[in-house]
Amino acid sequence: LQADTTPVGATAPSLYDFAELYDAIVPPGPCEGFYLAEARRARGPVLELACGTGRLTLPLARDGHDVTGLDASPRMLAAAAAKAQAAGLSPRLTLGDMRGFDLRRRFGLVVIACNSLAHLTETEEALACLRAARRHLLPGGTLAFDVVMPGPALLAAEGGWRRLDHGPNPASAIEAEEKASYDPVTQLRTARWRIRPPGQGPVEAAFALRLFFPRELPALLRLAGFEPVALHGDFARQALSPWSLSQVCLARPRRGRHAA
Ligand SMILES: C[S@@+](CC[C@H](N)C(=O)[O-])C[C@H]1O[C@@H](n2cnc3c(N)ncnc32)[C@H](O)[C@@H]1O
Repeated sequence: LQADTTPVGATAPSLYDFAELYDAIVPPGPCEGFYLAEARRARGPVLELACGTGRLTLPLARDGHDVTGLDASPRMLAAAAAKAQAAGLSPRLTLGDMRGFDLRRRFGLVVIACNSLAHLTETEEALACLRAARRHLLPGGTLAFDVVMPGPALLAAEGGWRRLDHGPNPASAIEAEEKASYDPVTQLRTARWRIRPPGQGPVEAAFALRLFFPRELPALLRLAGFEPVALHGDFARQALSPWSLSQVCLARPRRGRHAA
């Protein structure tokens, strides 16, 4: 496999240069039922920010929704387009940056799934994304997103390599290892992945992800002009607890003159 785009981190490329590996490492998961339920409840089309290879975009389209997917990676979008064509589906797929975009359209639901917001490592970037999402929502529309829970295991400095497919990502269809460190000042978790596709040499990828703490999220949402509606601990909508692995958020645009 060859990666030819700008490296992330010291020497390794981004995981998103390897769209087919992404699909093997991150197969469909429990988020699908949650976001499908929100789309069915929404009054209006669906916008998925950071849609990647269409892991969620395609099921939304298959469920009959008018769905637009936006992503910054041409390779991930190309994979989404190929899968959509093979499935006879036609979601709108747009190359763009979720920190600032103008689709000249409003939506009943904006989704940011699979910890994608964590790619926005600066608070101003996350706020810019949330504000852009708000501008694209119809009155009464919903923002739905999930980010990981910054539990003790994620925060602990690990030092060595550990198997992702035996730990945090047991759904992975291929062997993958992670070496990570957490900086409590920046709230960034920097990770290096070594992926071993069957029959090929190892592929390395690196990224830095921002961790959002549970009491930060409502504050960020309010700063961006939203009213938080729910903060669940999983996609079955159970309460957030010390054992939760995810933070699953729903928010609505705040009305009135105080809205951002
Ligand atoms: C973890 S993947 C999630 C993909 C998809 N939502 C899913 O559930 O499988 C994160 C995605 O965020 C995209 N991404 C990262 N930064 C972005 C940005 N600033 N604007 C748009 N997309 C971005 C990456 O290209 C990648 O496809």
